[in-house]
Amino acid sequence: MLFQQHEQSLLVHAPAKLNLFLEILGRRADGYHELDTLMIAVDLHDTLTFTETSPGVADDAIDFRAEFVVPQPASGLSLPQDANNLVIKAVELIKRETGCRRGVQIRLFKRIPLASGLGGGSSDAAATLVALNRLWQLELDDSQLHRLAAQLGSDVNFFLAPNGLAICRGRGEAIQPLQFQHHFHFVIARMHQGLSTAQVFARCKPSSQPRSAGRLIDELQRGNKTAASQAMYNALQSPAEVLTSELCELKAKFSELPVLGHSMSGSGTAYYGWCANRKLAQAAAARLRSRGVPFVVTVQSRF
Ligand code: C5P
Repeated sequence: MLFQQHEQSLLVHAPAKLNLFLEILGRRADGYHELDTLMIAVDLHDTLTFTETSPGVADDAIDFRAEFVVPQPASGLSLPQDANNLVIKAVELIKRETGCRRGVQIRLFKRIPLASGLGGGSSDAAATLVALNRLWQLELDDSQLHRLAAQLGSDVNFFLAPNGLAICRGRGEAIQPLQFQHHFHFVIARMHQGLSTAQVFARCKPSSQPRSAGRLIDELQRGNKTAASQAMYNALQSPAEVLTSELCELKAKFSELPVLGHSMSGSGTAYYGWCANRKLAQAAAARLRSRGVPFVVTVQSRF
């Protein structure tokens, strides 16, 4: 997460994430699934601006507007402008928990596609918590921010992590940040259809012999991306493939590309390839675009 202070406003870049590994360990009594996942932040980002409410506007008014600033896959989903947007949920939660009665103008400029497993909404929510904590000088510490983040969604805590790389357990909210020196390049693609997280989890089965992220983490720490990419895994990919044939189409396209490995991110439907360097990521992106894939970006890890 990157912050810039401009007089009365705070500008935040809220990154997307990729799941390099995701295993389902069990189903919990609260209906959620126990996870073991490795997430990495990448430099595809939404931008949010937070501005103190101008005089004349009701003191506690929340003036929120969201728009896409890059062409999106035609999924039929619209960007929520109301309390269905996690940004508004984050504002309401932080006000309720701190008793703060101030207002704010928020503009959300979206690049991360909706319903993609890239964590866009969660990242926007984390950015909102951190930005309002600064703008309103609420002095919430990290553990208080994490407690609020966990109430907003299972992926929100990850975006509060310092290095943009973490193992996430529990329902995803129990994060263990990791230190890494290396930069990695990826190409991310998405077809038209998105999937809701709940829809995909409803079709998954906990693994009777869970895989471990250990090898992937060891190879990552050594900077050995070829070996690391071979240990990528996402237990949600098979259930998501049943829900949309577009994923199988993307998988077939990626298997013809010079990528080190490829996988779905989170609950989909974004799919990504791990590339040896930026040039190969750009070449892979050009091939995907020429084959009619509606959303394609190259990214690098940011930490
Ligand atoms: O926590 P979040 O709101 O992102 O989760 C959306 C839905 O995904 C949950 O309502 C639940 O159905 C499913 N989910 C799950 N196990 C998780 C995370 C999410 O079953 N660990």
